[in-house]
Amino acid sequence: MQNESITFRVQPGGTLRGEARVPGDKSISHRSIMLSALAEGTTRVSGFLEAEDCLATMNAFRAMGVRIEGPEAGRVIIHGVGLRGLKAPQEPLYLGNSGTSMRLLAGLLAGQSFDTVLTGDSSLSRRPMKRVTEPLRAMGAVIATTEAGTAPLRIKGGARLKGIHYDMPVASAQVKSCLLLAGLYAEGETSVREPAPTRDHTERMLAGFSYPLRRDGDLVALRSGDKLVAHDIDVPSDISSAAFFLVGASIAESANVTLQHVGINPTRTGVIDILRLMGADIELVNPREAGGEPVADIRVRSSRLRGIEIPESLVPLAIDEFPALFVAAACAEGETRLSGAAELRVKESDRIQVMAEGLQTLGIDAQPTSDGMLVRGGCLSGGRVESHGDHRIAMAFSIAALRAAGPIEIEDCGNVNTSFPNFVELARGLGLNIVAVDGEVL
Ligand code: S3P
Repeated sequence: MQNESITFRVQPGGTLRGEARVPGDKSISHRSIMLSALAEGTTRVSGFLEAEDCLATMNAFRAMGVRIEGPEAGRVIIHGVGLRGLKAPQEPLYLGNSGTSMRLLAGLLAGQSFDTVLTGDSSLSRRPMKRVTEPLRAMGAVIATTEAGTAPLRIKGGARLKGIHYDMPVASAQVKSCLLLAGLYAEGETSVREPAPTRDHTERMLAGFSYPLRRDGDLVALRSGDKLVAHDIDVPSDISSAAFFLVGASIAESANVTLQHVGINPTRTGVIDILRLMGADIELVNPREAGGEPVADIRVRSSRLRGIEIPESLVPLAIDEFPALFVAAACAEGETRLSGAAELRVKESDRIQVMAEGLQTLGIDAQPTSDGMLVRGGCLSGGRVESHGDHRIAMAFSIAALRAAGPIEIEDCGNVNTSFPNFVELARGLGLNIVAVDGEVL
């Protein structure tokens, strides 16, 4: 079955009710493999996201000689090889659609003794990599890219890295994490300052693996020469996957959904803050901690959303949730304005353009701007929209059907498997009238 051939067909109306546990956090799952592979000892991971992106990371480490058992029902056992224990892979490491795999691995591999080549699919091969290759080169890394600065990344082994201080021009957890991982192999201290807070899973997990780290406001720093000590990890559910149901239950009539064991790390909860500003009814039940990360069950009920000006400070804290939030804006009363979000143009697709076009197809006045969008809430019609192979676009338009006047068909949905393989079944279980159709049989 070709990825491109999968179409989602969603019948209009209905509601979402019940309890569900969405799959594990993608960012934490990637990091659980990377850090435990470099650790001394054996790490047991539970709640691991068995989706294409994280499996790409897992396969890369297997190709570098790390013994990994599983995944089986979210459980993975990683036999760490220590910071100097990776072996040269026989072939280029293919990372599919996964920007996190490529950018974090670029840092980690820049300090190895062997050469590596990182490749990806057509979307990943278009995404900007200079944001990591430039600071890595300043540390002494030897990396070749295409003329446009994109993948494949050819990383030369044996470079002597030196710690630098880097003021990040964009708020990016991937860049920050890349440099910290390179810093594990660099002489002296590597420090990174971020222009706005971004997800801090790398820092939390390094601390969980007993690696000394200096955090001082917007600065994080580490020195090489220490070691990572194996540490079991309980991966919470991914708030970025939960987001589709936070929006879906907010816009549907008579909805009442509880999402269990969701990660509510404050660097990830912008979607809750934005929806609450729009008038959403969202309650965090039983907040607790799991493996160094805060989690809670999230209860969400129908509400009348109103348009808002989205505070720019919340943008990095909700960076993956804008496809879903644009749907919320389309269903809200009045105008919603987003600015300061140019990063959305360089995600798995140009999420500003693709969402604006899809919403326009569904009869909504959505005006893209260079760094955001102006959305006037209105009545969604049915229609056929394109996801451009972007998992989050596919899922966002699926939940839009809860408020549409006719069926919505979304093309090219195979990449939902990169982050949320059981999306269709789970959404159906909560009440969304969705089916996935293989194009060949249409
Ligand atoms: C991620 C960071 C974010 C996010 C991506 C995952 C991570 O990217 O969009 O889906 O795991 O570090 P940026 O850091 O580039 O904004």
